[in-house]
Amino acid sequence: MKRVFSGVQPTGNLHLGNYLGAIKNWVAMQREYDCIYCIVDLHAITVPQDPAELTANTREVTAGLLAAGLDPKTCIIFNQSSVTGHAELAWILNCFTPLGWLNRMTQFKEKAGKRRENALLGLYAYPVLMAADILLYHASAVPVGEDQKQHLELSRDIAGAFNRAYDVAFFPLPEPMIFGAATRVMSLRDGRAKMSKSDGSDYARINLTDDADTLALKIKRAKTDSEPGLSFDPERRPEAANLLSIYAALAGEPVERIVAEHTGMGFAAFKGKLADLATATLGPIAQRMRELQADPGYIDGVLADGAERARAIADANLAEVRRIMGLLDA
Ligand code: AMP
Ligand code: TRP
Repeated sequence: MKRVFSGVQPTGNLHLGNYLGAIKNWVAMQREYDCIYCIVDLHAITVPQDPAELTANTREVTAGLLAAGLDPKTCIIFNQSSVTGHAELAWILNCFTPLGWLNRMTQFKEKAGKRRENALLGLYAYPVLMAADILLYHASAVPVGEDQKQHLELSRDIAGAFNRAYDVAFFPLPEPMIFGAATRVMSLRDGRAKMSKSDGSDYARINLTDDADTLALKIKRAKTDSEPGLSFDPERRPEAANLLSIYAALAGEPVERIVAEHTGMGFAAFKGKLADLATATLGPIAQRMRELQADPGYIDGVLADGAERARAIADANLAEVRRIMGLLDA
């Protein structure tokens, strides 16, 4: 079975964009592939973190993954820092990564901004750690969003550089799995901005923990335009298009079908239908998430079990890396 690896940062406020854009796809893959899902806390510390919040966010993301339907017996779910092999392999791979490759990374350029001299080495080396995450498990398929494609290409280059240096075919070259375009969820207050955890208004986003009343209220207050009747025109009517896309994604139907069914319907009536659908699909997830968050002992147990299983694979591959490189196991 093909091995899949993916990572998610432990940031709080899991929202509908995270669910429809990432988590739902992970759930769909778990029976078809050998899946390893990692809460990447070592990536999170490339920007300042409050210790208590980092712990809480690691548990929140884990709860979100479980509540959405990931089965911790079928797949491996763990937090990155619990398996020390990630940091170890990252160091080794640093020694096969030319600066020129890292200098091309657009995410670093964006995050470092104009203050390049003050940017931290960890932020610069972030993509090498990501390569280590994937290669440590010999994963061949990596579900990621568009924005991570460049990092994945770098992972392939680094794997190739290692293989060439020792004339081995040890690391498989990982392939990205990019999911369909219908997965960009926009803000409920502005159809041209991405739904985001950092939006100042909570009304801009549907949190995975929102209860039914909050959900309905947020959908009711979602921004609309003044044209009568719904139509799907993302350029001219981004808010209407967003609500229709969210409906389609929640219903698991092609957006064309949802549009055909609702063209001409008024916003108020459609919002009512959307609120019902959102409550029916997200309600059980929110309920489960609240239950899980009330039981951090259970969450920590899932992560500990996942880390143990991840470690077994990681240790075997690292031992082989050491042998190939001639690093003496004293
Ligand atoms: P972030 O919280 O931005 O680190 O994103 C975590 C995951 O959720 C990534 O795979 C993103 O691609 C996905 N994601 C975040 N926001 C959205 C959104 N508004 N629409 C679709 N996917 C999103
Ligand atoms: N950098 C990814 C993101 O911000 C998260 C990530 C870390 C990842 N390691 C990974 C994704 C390995 C896929 C594979 O979304």
